[in-house]
Amino acid sequence: MTTPSTSFSDRREALVDGEFAFTGADFKRIAALLYEQAGISLPDSKATLVYSRLAKRLRTLGLKSFAEYCAFVAQDGNVDEQQHMLRALTTNVTRFFREPHHFDDLRANILEPMADKVRAGGRLRLWSAACSSGQEPYSMAFTVLSVWPNAAELDIRILGTDIDTNVLATGRAAVYEEQLLEGIPANMRSQYFERDASDRRSFRVCETARQLVAFRELNLNGPSWPMKGPFDAIFCRNVVIYFDEPTQERVWQRFAPLVAPGGKLYVGHSERVGASITAFESAGLTAYRKVGR
Ligand SMILES: C[S@@+](CC[C@H](N)C(=O)[O-])C[C@H]1O[C@@H](n2cnc3c(N)ncnc32)[C@H](O)[C@@H]1O
Repeated sequence: MTTPSTSFSDRREALVDGEFAFTGADFKRIAALLYEQAGISLPDSKATLVYSRLAKRLRTLGLKSFAEYCAFVAQDGNVDEQQHMLRALTTNVTRFFREPHHFDDLRANILEPMADKVRAGGRLRLWSAACSSGQEPYSMAFTVLSVWPNAAELDIRILGTDIDTNVLATGRAAVYEEQLLEGIPANMRSQYFERDASDRRSFRVCETARQLVAFRELNLNGPSWPMKGPFDAIFCRNVVIYFDEPTQERVWQRFAPLVAPGGKLYVGHSERVGASITAFESAGLTAYRKVGR
């Protein structure tokens, strides 16, 4: 893998005036590590953000400079610290029914046409790749339940994957504060959530929806993906925006054999699958249909 070019590369002077020494060389090492680990590109303009997001971590670890932090995080096998760094430098922002037109499209163009087949025992597989804390796969589950209220008895599975194990734990717990339920239509809210027994200000996703979703750790830029598919739809939204173009293209190419013919790939509002990826054709707003086999 190549590393992104940074114009500050080897500059030794401080990039940010603050408690910890932070040079261009430190920034370059952190950017290279993040790229190597997760495929995420950090442009030079993010130097101040890197400083502010990691300063607290340096304090916690009792380190004196970013040079010390770079040495620590790059140590062989320091997976724990690499996860801390990744969490500090990425965003997990998500919402129930974010970009709601995708869920309408999923229902009208994938789920409803398959309704009879799945009711008769056919298989349905959906994947939320980069699912963050679970709101996306659960929104898929609520959409599924609106078509098949008995989905838990059918051959339906939804996979939620993310590189960050913390957000996956939140997804598995399926407990959300009341204000996070704002995007959910009132009828679905009462149908698919129950007040959490231990924290009355929070709500838990109902068991019927939870049963449909399995959460797994997966790096979209990792060497191998264990899943075989085919998936009837993949949501990969608001994550490749942090990757450079060759990395984005590689991810789209990896999805192609995993989507069933006629199945769909949904991407984030500022993401695109370019014409060079011939396995997909544009089919709606930031939605792509798998063509061929
Ligand atoms: C902004 S959230 C998007 C969540 C959801 N897809 C949505 O659109 O609301 C981006 C997620 O991508 C995850 N992520 C970043 N790099 C990743 C990678 N290389 N592989 C898998 N997930 C990654 C982050 O941990 C984060 O949870």
